[in-house]
Amino acid sequence: MRENKRNKKDMTQSKVAPKGLEGVTAADSGLARIDGEVGELRYCGYLITDLAEHSDYAETAYLLWHKELPTKSQYDALKESLRANRDVPGAVMDLLRKNARGLEPMDALRTAVSLLSVDDIEGSQTDRQVNLKRAIKITACVPTIIAAYDRLRRGEEPVAPDADLAHAANFLYMLTGSKPNDEVARMLDTCLVLHAEHGFNASTFAGRVTAATLSDIYSSVTSAIGALKGPLHGGANTAVMNMLVEIGDVQNVEQFIDAKLANREKIMGFGHRVYKVVDPRAIVLRKFSARTADLTGESKWFEMSEKIESLMKSRKGIDMNVDFYSASTYYSMGIAGDLFTPIFALSRVSGWVAHILEQHESNRLIRPRSNYVGSEDREYVYMDKRCPGS
Ligand code: COA
Repeated sequence: MRENKRNKKDMTQSKVAPKGLEGVTAADSGLARIDGEVGELRYCGYLITDLAEHSDYAETAYLLWHKELPTKSQYDALKESLRANRDVPGAVMDLLRKNARGLEPMDALRTAVSLLSVDDIEGSQTDRQVNLKRAIKITACVPTIIAAYDRLRRGEEPVAPDADLAHAANFLYMLTGSKPNDEVARMLDTCLVLHAEHGFNASTFAGRVTAATLSDIYSSVTSAIGALKGPLHGGANTAVMNMLVEIGDVQNVEQFIDAKLANREKIMGFGHRVYKVVDPRAIVLRKFSARTADLTGESKWFEMSEKIESLMKSRKGIDMNVDFYSASTYYSMGIAGDLFTPIFALSRVSGWVAHILEQHESNRLIRPRSNYVGSEDREYVYMDKRCPGS
């Protein structure tokens, strides 16, 4: 009786949050402002469409980490530091050499990023200067890790970074071994700007929860990568490409989508917890998908995507999200489908780091309650009473 009263008291103290924390505001942040009703996204006050047009990934990373656009010398210094930190520690390269063929891309990335702390002598510090130094190192090393992993699993030697190339161009160079076309490199750089930050999405929240325990930035980014991997989050872009390959041709689209919807299956690359209208990033990516199709002369991925987009609108009234056209864009750039989620991480790492810095600036442990709905209080029963004769 006494125990039951205690349970009742606990129940009245806790307010049960909506499933999936939908609509719950978990903290203040000065990074992304998302208006899901009108389809607007701003980083630190700047419209994403302006940043996509006029900024680049390095400048955007600076903006997120300092909440101000850089001066020319601040911008040059960050670009220089990113270039100077592209070589990964020997232990990370050894890990990739030994395991690339046996690891899935996001598993390889998660484990390699975790190991980046191997040569860091500053231990578990969380002060801003140490975090900023580590932020640059992690951001600079992620492209090297992904490219080296991909080459090694294909039986090819990693390509060393090229200090003459900017962040996205250098990544494509390390991946393919040849210097990319300027327009393609610029489009990929813009894709990185578009994916860099998005409020309390699942991976960022996971990273912040880890940071809030005053754990270090490597651990926090590793948590975030683990969360990004799932197909309901960053894994959706790879799932979109798998779907396009499975459909195979524009004429099969309608039957495929109708069958999935009739089966109450989700179509990857559609829907969003926050956007109730079309995601502004997806509009830029649609243009890139069309343009990369022009450049390669293979338009079927774009055409299939356009058809799926219009069917989803007419059948379900659901808009595309950022993962939808990024799939056909990256594929047309010659990037393997299972690297799309690692590329999402390559970009989002700057946002994760910005959130970790923000969390550490005004920290409080993130520790919500759960609402207990399990068995009533029970007396322990010994094994011989539970299973007599066993
Ligand atoms: N395809 C088909 N139907 C979808 C859909 C999709 N991609 N996304 C949402 N819906 C439908 C659901 O079936 C549900 O319909 P119902 O009310 O008739 O059951 C309704 O829309 C609400 O969806 P729900 O999954 O509850 O919304 P959510 O806010 O929990 O989910 C996502 C948001 C992103 C997880 C969800 O839209 C999804 O799974 N999308 C596909 C994966 C994806 O692209 N993820 C990347 C996000 S950037």
